[in-house]
Amino acid sequence: MVADRLNDAAAGGATMCLPTGSTPRQAYAHLAAHGDLSGSTVFLLDEFVLPDDSPARCDSMLHRDLLNRMTHPPKRLETWDTNAPDLAAECARMEDAVNGVLDVAVLGIGTNGHLGLNEPGSPVASRSRVVELHQSTQAASTTYGSGPIPELGVTFGLADIMDASTVWLLATGTHKAAIIADALTGPIGIAIPASVLQDHPQLEVFLDPEAASRL
Ligand code: PGA
Repeated sequence: MVADRLNDAAAGGATMCLPTGSTPRQAYAHLAAHGDLSGSTVFLLDEFVLPDDSPARCDSMLHRDLLNRMTHPPKRLETWDTNAPDLAAECARMEDAVNGVLDVAVLGIGTNGHLGLNEPGSPVASRSRVVELHQSTQAASTTYGSGPIPELGVTFGLADIMDASTVWLLATGTHKAAIIADALTGPIGIAIPASVLQDHPQLEVFLDPEAASRL
């Protein structure tokens, strides 16, 4: 379903930000085999500050799980240059590019409720910036590939996500059931960044039965 929706959005010329990690992998496999993103502009949602050749980097995952396997990749792809001499300036560059242009923000969710790398406590008004990673995020990164464990990341902010016309939140697996229930039915607050999506006028949530099991 997610692959088909992404394909349809791209056919309509959508500008989207895309997540990486384990959640979208199956949808990306389907999209790579059957889809066409050539009408779309794609921004990578976030990135770990890791050496370029690290398999756990989000751009590595996006290429491995989707782009390298596609016949029709996006017409434009924007990723984060974490080797830039001034990371704050690189975030400002990405912010200028993304500000107000997202038709669709596609998101996973961390077990701590993060969106992108907006960890708990991130301001609702946050924009693209450098962030310190929580321990659970660092632990998750070790499942994406071998190499050093990142301490910092760069990410679009919660305000960038909330500015998108449509938000698609994806979650799979029993380990996401509790945070999905808290984020979607609990109080709205920065302790659980994903809870702010309750205020988005056009939120669509895609869950497998395991992730939906506490709703
Ligand atoms: P995951 O990561 O898809 O690998 O579970 C999601 C996230 O941390 O946002």
